Amino acid sequence: MVGARMYGRLYTIVPILILLTPVGLAVDITHFKTVALTLIPSAVKNGAVCLDGSPPAYHIDRGVGDGANNWLVFLEGGGWCDTTENCLDRTKDKEGLGSSKIMQAKNFTGILGHDQKLNPDFYIWNRVFVRYCDGASFTGNSFDPVNKLYYKGANVFNAIVEDLLGKGMRNATNALFMGCSAGGLAAILNCDRFRSFLTEHTNVKCASDAGYFLHTKDIFGEYHYANFYNRIVNLHGSIKNLPKACTSTMRPRSLCLFPQNIVPHIETPLFLINSAYDGNQINKILAPSIDDLPQSWKRCKFDITTCSQDQIDILKGFRSEFLHALPKLGNGSFRGMFISSCLTHCQTQVQLNWDSDPGFRIENMTMAEALGNWFYGRSSGQIVDDNDVPKVCSSSTTLL
Ligand SMILES: *[C@@H]1O[C@H](CO)[C@@H](O)[C@H](O)[C@H]1NC(C)=O
Ligand SMILES: *[C@@H]1O[C@H](CO)[C@@H](O)[C@H](O)[C@H]1NC(C)=O
Ligand SMILES: *[C@@H]1O[C@H](CO)[C@@H](O)[C@H](O)[C@H]1NC(C)=O
Ligand SMILES: *[C@@H]1O[C@H](CO)[C@@H](O)[C@H](O)[C@H]1NC(C)=O
Repeated sequence: MVGARMYGRLYTIVPILILLTPVGLAVDITHFKTVALTLIPSAVKNGAVCLDGSPPAYHIDRGVGDGANNWLVFLEGGGWCDTTENCLDRTKDKEGLGSSKIMQAKNFTGILGHDQKLNPDFYIWNRVFVRYCDGASFTGNSFDPVNKLYYKGANVFNAIVEDLLGKGMRNATNALFMGCSAGGLAAILNCDRFRSFLTEHTNVKCASDAGYFLHTKDIFGEYHYANFYNRIVNLHGSIKNLPKACTSTMRPRSLCLFPQNIVPHIETPLFLINSAYDGNQINKILAPSIDDLPQSWKRCKFDITTCSQDQIDILKGFRSEFLHALPKLGNGSFRGMFISSCLTHCQTQVQLNWDSDPGFRIENMTMAEALGNWFYGRSSGQIVDDNDVPKVCSSSTTLL
């Protein structure tokens, strides 16, 4: 649940950051486009509902001109819920992470933006932002009648894709299926499934922004994140919706929620945007605020400039493991990547990270250029920052 709140805060920070940015980098806030919510009430009878039983929802800005047959489907993130209590809380989340009754309109920026200068490859595509309201990365298929909690993420995914197919996506020339954080993980988990909804006439590729959550030990030597994922999968009844090529051999099968165990089985081209120092992963996976997290780690997590050399070395070790867990370099058109050393999490929806702030460039390339080039086959597609020091890429020094 903490992930959800943190994620919400990310959104509210966006406009402030933009206003405070030095003049040279300023992005006119009128480039936001506020896009209304589309509900799918007809999906409810098929059991496609948010945690509280409300209908699934998305936002769509229709494509025009050359983009009219191209589709970007972007899954929202926002952590996961692993207990009945957390999921009940989530139905009241003020961003609507458990209920479409609470969801508001959405400002489209970054890869969702409509301005050619700021989003040259996707600005005239159909751009869809899919709301996340199931709490298990669109994998669940269960129901708790006592608490009236609907764990129906897999149905939500199917209902939304079906709805979009009917709105013209069936005839798409190009389709890019992606998401960020828990949505980035969902894009990996559902990549081949999304592909299977479309014919061979559609050029389909997937991308994950900050969804490559690493399976590793925390600083206490425990695999607490694997246990967390195990609770999520059990609560939501997710196992049968995880990629079978993984669940048929992996034990426990809940480890099939970790991208490093799934990506080798995915047959569709996939692009990974992630930081090797993903602030959310350092905060939640490496140095979680469970047990008695030493004060020195609490400080280091919140302000990188206070970390000791030993802590920096542990962070560097995390980066090494992260890089090691990525697909092998070589086949960039099949497995593209843009891996920074920035202390950041979820970048493509944020205009500054996407194309405007030089701090987020690698080899002088923005992630907008890297992803667009990869999608259209204009360049090889594997870009990894070789700087092994955690980097503050914007005005913030916090790992969060
Ligand atoms: C969109 O951005 C504008 C300008 O910053 C803000 O006033 C508005 O509340 C935002 N709307 C939503 C739905 O976030
Ligand atoms: C797809 O294209 C066919 C033939 O051009 C057309 O008949 C059909 O209505 C289109 N479907 C959608 C969902 O736009
Ligand atoms: C890249 O991977 C795809 C899918 O496995 C394969 O078809 C293609 O031949 C590979 N290309 C190279 C150059 O290895
Ligand atoms: C980086 O790219 C920008 C814009 O594409 C360009 O103006 C700048 O000169 C480049 N910087 C370097 C060091 O190549």
